[in-house]
Amino acid sequence: MPSPMEFRSRWVLVTGASSGLGREIARHLARDHGANLIIAARRRSRLEELARELEQEAKVQVVTVQADLSREDDVERLFREATDGREVYAVILNAGITCFGEHHALAWEDISRMLSLNVTSTVRLVSLFVPHLLETRQSGGVLLVSSLAGVVPVPYQAAYSGTKGFLINFGRCLWHELRADDVSVTTFVPGGISTELLDIHGLSKHFGHKNPMVMPADACARLAVRALQRRRYMYVPGLLNRASLLLADLLPRRLSTTVIGAEYRKALATARGDG
Ligand SMILES: NC(=O)c1ccc[n+]([C@@H]2O[C@H](COP(=O)([O-])OP(=O)(O)OC[C@H]3O[C@@H](n4cnc5c(N)ncnc54)[C@H](OP(=O)(O)O)[C@@H]3O)[C@@H](O)[C@H]2O)c1
Repeated sequence: MPSPMEFRSRWVLVTGASSGLGREIARHLARDHGANLIIAARRRSRLEELARELEQEAKVQVVTVQADLSREDDVERLFREATDGREVYAVILNAGITCFGEHHALAWEDISRMLSLNVTSTVRLVSLFVPHLLETRQSGGVLLVSSLAGVVPVPYQAAYSGTKGFLINFGRCLWHELRADDVSVTTFVPGGISTELLDIHGLSKHFGHKNPMVMPADACARLAVRALQRRRYMYVPGLLNRASLLLADLLPRRLSTTVIGAEYRKALATARGDG
């Protein structure tokens, strides 16, 4: 593998930068690493606000791309706009959503949107950006944001858990395929993070934002950037997450999934107001 990544004055794409982990990754890259950014999400005003903040405070260049990455044409346009006159050095594929509830009771359009965003757009953006990274010969890198839910199955987020498991295998395969070409692919595997994602489905009513298993987004973002910088293969941030993974690995998967399923059943009841 080539030496650690150096982001200063390089162009880095961050998807899902309008909130949560993506926004904190963008802030950290600009303020502490002096990276120029291409930030993408659907909420234009949030992106523009972040761009103004970082251009003023960190004196970096920021390009915003409003894109609904569950739509194929927006995914293609993001690649075109990001690379228009620029050499992109790092690609952080962070945008993701979940669906919470009994799988059979979820609306198909919600599941379909999640599959398109979490899986299809990520795979397509890798297919588009890796040739760009190879052609521009910068020894660049890709960070895929997965989840512990991709390692240990999480009932009531069955399809989400599947998408994150997909990303883990996808990312690890790519690391091997690309290492001889000096392009690193890091799979980032966080546990709970204190972001809007927890509020959207009422998950925070049960788990709470102050829960020790739920990491502050800025701390998690720093570890994500460090994992990318060091070209890690797969990285689980936080001692508690690593310890719980170790414990889950010691138990038969069916047993760890039973324990997690019971917790999420309670979370679902709380979210519905009958917990
Ligand atoms: N929070 C957790 O506990 C946790 C745990 C493990 C892994 N993760 C992963 O971390 C990543 C970031 O999530 P987060 O916790 O930071 O959640 P978040 O605050 O809800 O952020 C999600 C980001 O994705 C963007 N997004 C959603 N739908 C999109 C679409 N159709 N097209 C383009 N962008 C879209 C959102 O922006 P717009 O709404 O403006 O489009 C937002 O910027 C996700 O991949 C998630 O699976 C989160």
